[in-house]
Amino acid sequence: MNGSLGKLDKLPRVALAHLPTPLEAMDNLAAALGRTGGLYVKRDDCTGLAFGGNKVRHLEFYLGVARARGADTVLITGAIQSNFSRCMAAAARKLGMGCHIQLEDQVPDKVGEYRTSGNVLVDNMLGATLHAYTGDPEGANRRIDEIAAALKAEGRNPYVVPRGAGHKPLGALGYVVAAQEILTQIGDRGIRIDEIVLASGTGASQAGLLFGLRALGSDIRVTGVCVREESAIQKARVAGLCGGIAEVLEVDPIVRDGDVIAMDDFLAPGYGRLNEPTLRALDMAARHEALILDPAYTAKAMATAILRARETGPDYGIMFLHTGGEPGAFAYSESLTAELEKLRAEK
Ligand SMILES: Cc1ncc(COP(=O)(O)O)c(C=O)c1O
Repeated sequence: MNGSLGKLDKLPRVALAHLPTPLEAMDNLAAALGRTGGLYVKRDDCTGLAFGGNKVRHLEFYLGVARARGADTVLITGAIQSNFSRCMAAAARKLGMGCHIQLEDQVPDKVGEYRTSGNVLVDNMLGATLHAYTGDPEGANRRIDEIAAALKAEGRNPYVVPRGAGHKPLGALGYVVAAQEILTQIGDRGIRIDEIVLASGTGASQAGLLFGLRALGSDIRVTGVCVREESAIQKARVAGLCGGIAEVLEVDPIVRDGDVIAMDDFLAPGYGRLNEPTLRALDMAARHEALILDPAYTAKAMATAILRARETGPDYGIMFLHTGGEPGAFAYSESLTAELEKLRAEK
């Protein structure tokens, strides 16, 4: 099934994720929404590696490059509650590498558990070297390069996992692989899927999945759920990444811009902030399917999957792609407990 994926199998990659991840029916949730089925969850929260998530698939390609270059230390910059940083710290341990994480203070009003629990607790447990940073994203990128330069001067061989625009979208390739996996899984089990719904932050997972599906001849709709930027910005970002994937794989840019879908119905009031449909989605997923979602990413994606499930019938198969991020929920435990209590009292 790989002919149209160009150089995919030739690029450096390390095996980190538990694959294939499970594909499960969400029949309880479907019943609660008045459907007789047709709802599924792809459990990419089960990719393993210190709570797993979508970023483990991304890291297979980034750390493939790091290892090919003989790196002994990996570095990354991200938000205090970054799932990517936590997965990277875990991957570094498995590969016997040192790990430096720069924690960017992007939400200064958040104190207490946000700064000590969830992902940052796991970073600490994994023994990553943590660096605090307050300032703009460009400054953060400069500073991580300076830390890498200092390590080099000490005789280490550092590799910085690149963030921001202007680098090859290697992480997205993890979701090109996921597209293959999904098509095999639904083909083997005779499951009809018309649409896949997933959270879209940097857009790399969405772009990789969309590119992979189209390259393999599938027209499954891919709905990216905006968690940080509004729809127009996110669409342009994902379209750009699809072009970048084509360049890396050295194949034709198969994804048309009009094929990129980004829904921002539940983005307000902003990144990491709940609204009522999102809270309800988090509540329903837990109570009906024992799926634990986080406020920043997966709860917003589930709110959108529920919206799409209400708009369609059971013959229209919807797959919710659970991208992980559960540790993030612990960073919001006090407010989440209070809001869930309020929601349940209203019923
Ligand atoms: C749990 C979770 N889901 C989804 C995403 C979004 O993935 P992407 O950045 O590939 O769009 C992230 C990104 O950090 C994440 O941590």
